[in-house]
Amino acid sequence: MPGLNHGPSPRHAKAFTVAYSPIMRADPLKFLSDELDSLKQQGLYRHLRVLESEQGAHATFDRQSVVNLSSNNYLGLTTHPKLREAALEAVRRFGAGSGSVRTIAGTMDLHMELERRLAAFKHVESVVVFQSGFAANAGTVAAILTKDDVVISDELNHASIIDGCRLSRAAIKVFPHKDANAARAILKDLPAAQRKLVITDGVFSMDGDLGSLPDLCAAAEEYGAIMMVDDAHASGVFGKNGRGTVDHFGLHGRVDVQVGTLSKAIGALGGYVAGSTAFIEFLHHRARPFLFSTSHPPSVTATCLAALDVLLEEPQIIDRLWENTRFFKKGLVDLGFNTGASESPITPVIVGDGALAMKLSDRLFQEGVFAQGIAFPTVARDKARVRTIVTATHTRDELQFALDRFAAVGRELGIR
Ligand SMILES: Cc1ncc(COP(=O)(O)O)c(C=O)c1O
Repeated sequence: MPGLNHGPSPRHAKAFTVAYSPIMRADPLKFLSDELDSLKQQGLYRHLRVLESEQGAHATFDRQSVVNLSSNNYLGLTTHPKLREAALEAVRRFGAGSGSVRTIAGTMDLHMELERRLAAFKHVESVVVFQSGFAANAGTVAAILTKDDVVISDELNHASIIDGCRLSRAAIKVFPHKDANAARAILKDLPAAQRKLVITDGVFSMDGDLGSLPDLCAAAEEYGAIMMVDDAHASGVFGKNGRGTVDHFGLHGRVDVQVGTLSKAIGALGGYVAGSTAFIEFLHHRARPFLFSTSHPPSVTATCLAALDVLLEEPQIIDRLWENTRFFKKGLVDLGFNTGASESPITPVIVGDGALAMKLSDRLFQEGVFAQGIAFPTVARDKARVRTIVTATHTRDELQFALDRFAAVGRELGIR
């Protein structure tokens, strides 16, 4: 029957057997290669390092064995025996994929169980899980705001928040980093009837400092704004058993929207949003990544459930993370490096110039330490850095080795 598909009918098949010959034309994507060439000239071009082992405290990247200070595997859960076993068992029982988006056939009882367990863990009414922390942030902000609303956002908030704000088409008012008074001044000038969302990262991913959540919360309450925190780097790290910054600051019941990630300390993949039942049910109906992208494979969900068990049953892992953090941070400060205002296991070594940060990272790698160089546009042009993240599974010897290499390479490059 004509029109049923777009394949050639046998009668016309001959017309499609012409040999493929590329047409000579100017490359319309050439501007992209020009931009890459410019990055190379500035020393800012980044090769992807390839991991050839487990994501461990010691790992093999690009055929080289290194102390790994670049992963977000804060608690070492990516390789925890209970998580591995949970993933394998889920594959055996339920197969490799979920086969559908959540709103059609892709909601498995495992997904529901994880959401129930996360809600109890976070002391909230309800939770919805997204495919990633990025999808959770962007999907949530874009769902709850419209072009008539206003977002009041910390200048260093994560890209996924910024993208969510842009997608919502709400007006975006940015306040200087951690400056709750500036946020308050913005709120004060807005019409009382206008819908407002105050949003901050719980832990800032490039600086490792904490957002000014208590003061922002108070301002949001005073002006009737929605309060939202992105706890991607606080999940599993801050608060009792890793419940996040709301628990850390004792703000239960005062933050309307909490985003957490399952991709970092939790050791698997995903993001979740925690809040009231009405809010979460609204996201079921309006958050586009929830509606239009396939849900987690059962292995990922089962892994997250096992990770929650570990957080509750083995809190000593979190204690070890903090002992290692204190040791390594003090080591870097004692060596005279500028580590900014970090309060978490993320410690930057700020060098200023982008090319110098990349050079420091490359030389450290040659010496057996992987600490990623980070430059503009991820951080401001004059704030390029090497970022370090310690984990619970680093040994003292590994951390001391890394400090010794930082000392030597820093001296060689005139950074300290
Ligand atoms: C502050 C922050 N929010 C959200 C995300 C996104 O989380 P995910 O990796 O789970 O998509 C990240 C990850 O880099 C992050 O650093």
